[in-house]
Amino acid sequence: MSNLSLLILPGDGIGPEVMTQVERVIDWLGDQRGLKFDVSRDLVGGAAYDEHGVPLADETMAKAQEVDAVLLGAVGGPAYDNLDFSVKPERGLLRLRKEMDLFSNLRPAQCFDALSDFSSLKKEVISGLDIMIVRELTSGVYFGEPRGIQDDNEGGRVGVNTQRYTTNEIRRVARSAFELARRRSNKVCSMEKANVMESGILWREEVSWVHENEYPDVELSHMYADNGAMQLVRAPKQFDVIVTDNLFGDILSDCAAMLTGSLGMLPSASLGAPMENGRPKALYEPVHGSAPDITGQGKANPIACILSLAMALRYSFDQGEEAARIEKAVEKVLADGVRTGDLMGPDGGTPVSTSGMGDAILDALSESA
Ligand code: NAI
Ligand code: MG
Repeated sequence: MSNLSLLILPGDGIGPEVMTQVERVIDWLGDQRGLKFDVSRDLVGGAAYDEHGVPLADETMAKAQEVDAVLLGAVGGPAYDNLDFSVKPERGLLRLRKEMDLFSNLRPAQCFDALSDFSSLKKEVISGLDIMIVRELTSGVYFGEPRGIQDDNEGGRVGVNTQRYTTNEIRRVARSAFELARRRSNKVCSMEKANVMESGILWREEVSWVHENEYPDVELSHMYADNGAMQLVRAPKQFDVIVTDNLFGDILSDCAAMLTGSLGMLPSASLGAPMENGRPKALYEPVHGSAPDITGQGKANPIACILSLAMALRYSFDQGEEAARIEKAVEKVLADGVRTGDLMGPDGGTPVSTSGMGDAILDALSESA
């Protein structure tokens, strides 16, 4: 098998701290499972600004376009808060997403049994939960024109944003959701507001078109997004893959993620069109930010970033078995009671450090091999 090329961008704050633990897992996969990665490392965010005066150098951008997958830690932090908007750390991440055209954002919400007390929902409602929200990431109301704030000619002002979706934009993200469903329990629920929005009507029609013409084997249902929000909290296990637009996806994915506990546990993937080798352009990153309040203290939970690597193994490298091995190792250490500070319940205990969590996961991996 040819080597798997991976660009690692640790970024700022706790990004480098959690990425160190991910790199230990990558080394383990190479040594013990024969998975050889071509790993390169580069700077993004404030770290890139400090070195190059921009949050993402052109060479780094070019490299990101070539590799099979990019793995990013986090960007930003108080040291960069006063920078000009054009060179803010977040702009580095936005440039990656935009130039790689990463239109499909995958946010899993998975309940690890050992953490089910963490949820604000009843244990039986979330125990065993494993759903995936697919959010359209490059279009919709965050990008539509016209936009702006203008005088309304009556002495007041008017703020305008435009929800706009094309056939192609809807079909490609729908395909991405159906593909995912085939690897899971073969079920997609599409969410929009076709009752009050024309873009929602088109969304429903085009998702149905892709379904009928290309994925008739997958079970498709439609739901209004407001009802979807209710159902996610009432009975989340009725879903498998949910596909929705940028705005609804932003809100619904945050809502679904929090069903299951801590920010330190949440991975994500952003996928684009297939490259020549058939693999999609891909960026994997934890959902959390750079956590300046705990940076440099060894307190960061590396699990979100390690689970992001697992997603890369599954969706970019066709290594679903190794991805599952990592997820099982995480499950085991949690079941054994190993906790970073963010996972401590009210009754306390002694948290492990970032590297302590890495040690435990590597031990669990070694036991599994
Ligand atoms: P944050 O996600 O960095 O932190 C929120 C809270 O969760 C903090 O109390 C933090 O300590 C905790 N937390 C986050 N990740 C954790 C982990 N792995 N283990 C343990 N605790 C964890 O969000 P916040 O504070 O709003 O933003 C901080 C900086 O990060 C800002 O500069 C923001 O712009 C940036 N940011 C970057 C993102 C990215 O790189 N994708 C996403 C969100 C924020
Ligand atoms: Mg959000």
